[in-house]
Amino acid sequence: MSDWVFVCPTSQLLPGEKAVAWAGDTPIVVVNLDGAFYALEDRCTHDEFELSSGDVDLAEGSITCVLHGARFSLRDGEALCAPAYEPVAKFPVKVEDGLVWTRDDRT
Ligand code: FES
Repeated sequence: MSDWVFVCPTSQLLPGEKAVAWAGDTPIVVVNLDGAFYALEDRCTHDEFELSSGDVDLAEGSITCVLHGARFSLRDGEALCAPAYEPVAKFPVKVEDGLVWTRDDRT
């Protein structure tokens, strides 16, 4: 089981904002969605571009890949539109003492 990796203090991750952390070789984007934190692999399933460069849609709860426009649900990683069809991996997030942590729970 991989270790938790530090992302940032909650004070640096306000609603709609993103932060990126690395769990080994896995880039993870963590997003504050109206006070709840969600973590996805920072790698679009269409052509592996970094999702963290894209915009967050707070109303839909999604993030858009800037390369070709695929959107993914922040809550579960599901692909919401073409050209992506496969979900991105979703990872756990924990908040302790005002600090945000995540980990790649596949390893
Ligand atoms: S790489 Fe993300 S939509 Fe193509």
